[in-house]
Amino acid sequence: MNLGLTNQVAVVVGGANGIGKAIAHSFAAEGAAVAVVDRSPEVLAVASELGTGTLPVVVDVTDYAALQAAATRIESELGPVAHVVFTVGIDSGKGGFPFWNLHPDDWPRVYAVNVQGAVNTAHAFYAPMIERRHGTFLFFSSVAGQIGSQTDPPYSASKAAIINFTQCAAKDFAPYNIRANAIAPGMVHTPLQQKVYALATAHLPADERPSYDEWCDTKIKRLAPLGRMVDPEEIGSLTVFLASEHARNITGQVLNVDGGWVMHW
Ligand SMILES: NC(=O)c1ccc[n+]([C@@H]2O[C@H](COP(=O)([O-])OP(=O)(O)OC[C@H]3O[C@@H](n4cnc5c(N)ncnc54)[C@H](O)[C@@H]3O)[C@@H](O)[C@H]2O)c1
Repeated sequence: MNLGLTNQVAVVVGGANGIGKAIAHSFAAEGAAVAVVDRSPEVLAVASELGTGTLPVVVDVTDYAALQAAATRIESELGPVAHVVFTVGIDSGKGGFPFWNLHPDDWPRVYAVNVQGAVNTAHAFYAPMIERRHGTFLFFSSVAGQIGSQTDPPYSASKAAIINFTQCAAKDFAPYNIRANAIAPGMVHTPLQQKVYALATAHLPADERPSYDEWCDTKIKRLAPLGRMVDPEEIGSLTVFLASEHARNITGQVLNVDGGWVMHW
């Protein structure tokens, strides 16, 4: 399928690792020019993997002024931005329910990065896209934001907020021919998943602790009808489809890539 993304400019915020990195590769494979944005200097390595036409930008998404400067630089060095993907997401670093095992102070940082970071990104990039009456935004929710997952309450609540912001943005953008959607992954093999594993198994004695692969396999078979983990590249494939004109009537949606864990009706 020709997705028609050649030479379009895509910005992947959170592109240094995991899902964001796979998405950056998917856009580059479609011939797009990619800005890889992240607080981690690993963006430099991702950009050199992708080759020419790629711009690495080190920014923390909680710094709105720095994001605005990044947007200006990307437009000037790569050209008009067509697609903005916000994959940044952090956990609280504390496993566990009941929610009172966490302290209220464990919440603001997760919100500042996961929710305010998404809002900052939308504000930093929307204006020229509206003028051009063209483009797409993609945000990242999670099954955790749809099922009241108790594992990390601030994370779950932040992912529910992403759904609502995506819907608001989709309505606001629609008159300008700009679409906004969200992807809700289930369990994807990424550094974040490794952290979830470490937190979930930390309390077990070393000789009873399953390996990462064993833990993933048991959990995914219990929770998802298809019983298999998601590879980041699968999310990359859906992302470039959503950015393309083949998806021109898809907006305000949350698309689950989760092996059937959460089924909408
Ligand atoms: N991995 C999964 O199983 C899974 C499941 C459901 C949802 N998600 C969501 O998908 C998205 C991507 O997850 P992932 O597993 O690839 O995560 P990851 O931890 O592998 O990558 C996240 C990236 O965000 C960057 N980042 C973190 N804080 C930042 C900040 N303040 N400013 C700029 N960059 C920052 C990190 O440096 C990293 O490169 C997240 O929003 C996550 O919540 C992931």
